[in-house]
Amino acid sequence: MFYLCISIFIPNTLEKETIYILAIESSCDDTSVAVLQNDTMLSNVVASQKIHEEYGGVVPELASRAHQQNIVPVTTQALARANIDKKQLSAIAFTRGPGLMGSLLVGTSFAKSLALALDIPLIEVNHMQAHILAHFIKTENMAPPAFPFIALTISGGHTQIVKVNDYFEMEILGQTLDDAVGEAFDKSAKILGLPYPGGPLIDKYAAKGNPNAFEFPKPKVKDLNFSFSGLKTSILYFIQKQTAQNPNFIQENLEDICASIQYTIINILMSKLKKAVKSTGINRIAIGGGVSANSGIRSALKDAENELGWTTYIPNFEFCTDNAGMIGIVGYYKFKSNQFTGQEISAKARYNLTS
Ligand code: KG4
Ligand code: ZN
Repeated sequence: MFYLCISIFIPNTLEKETIYILAIESSCDDTSVAVLQNDTMLSNVVASQKIHEEYGGVVPELASRAHQQNIVPVTTQALARANIDKKQLSAIAFTRGPGLMGSLLVGTSFAKSLALALDIPLIEVNHMQAHILAHFIKTENMAPPAFPFIALTISGGHTQIVKVNDYFEMEILGQTLDDAVGEAFDKSAKILGLPYPGGPLIDKYAAKGNPNAFEFPKPKVKDLNFSFSGLKTSILYFIQKQTAQNPNFIQENLEDICASIQYTIINILMSKLKKAVKSTGINRIAIGGGVSANSGIRSALKDAENELGWTTYIPNFEFCTDNAGMIGIVGYYKFKSNQFTGQEISAKARYNLTS
């Protein structure tokens, strides 16, 4: 009799299964491990690799070696911060691609070994899907976007406009034909003599500059596609011409140059987004990827909320650049829909969002 009474009074929440995911991200130059309890993030440790700064870009071989050094301590720290023992974990999620092969291999091999040792399921994650689904990590005062919504993924390797119909039903509406927007920032910064990655520095100097000081041509690309390589070249020619006349041109005008570059790039992104809203009739816009940390795009989207009636979803800074929290949330939704993978899985440097 007594036992019967207890089972009747068990609250609903206790009956639900709690899922603990350990997630691993190693696609480029950040080694990151996160622990999630369902859609709530308990820890998200990121070890950024400083080694690349002196080379002006990511050196794949060095990135892979640094991942090997970082992966165990970062995992230990993520578990400790989450206050979770590895025996409590329900599954291991990892970035399968896209990314640098040597870097991906470290996370993939580690994830496979850990899943095997703990005898728990393995979940493979597409990095670009994760940048989009990062919006579903439970955050105070911020509800996730309702389906369907438009995602603009802007990172060092990608620039895409995606129609997101459901967690795993995505349609690419447009993408870059050459450089990614993050590359446009980083290569422009390099021309100005700024260290890698230059995107955040352009953002910093742009804050004090005049966005209309210099004008750069905007590419004429059809539909919802982008092109950024011409912009980079025009910035290079402009700087070469100006410094030939005045060797101190960059130092004397750094803030205005940065503000003008940023203004041009944000205009390109916003005009394509407006086109996407017009053609789909969807005005819920979510951004993701490293460049979504940029203050120019963040404020342009806020303006579009007020002026155009869009609803915009801008991730917390922590979820903009590469992190394992976003891999963990994909892991959680894949776990719920039984999307597991076997030990035969291998890393995939070129991994299409929709494949
Ligand atoms: O998503 P992410 O961390 O790595 C990739 O998957 O590529 O993105 C890195 C990119 C770099 O190009 C970096 O310069 C850019 O994001 N980035 C920014 C800002 N913060 C990061 N670009 C412009 N403004 C920023 N505040
Ligand atoms: Zn990324």
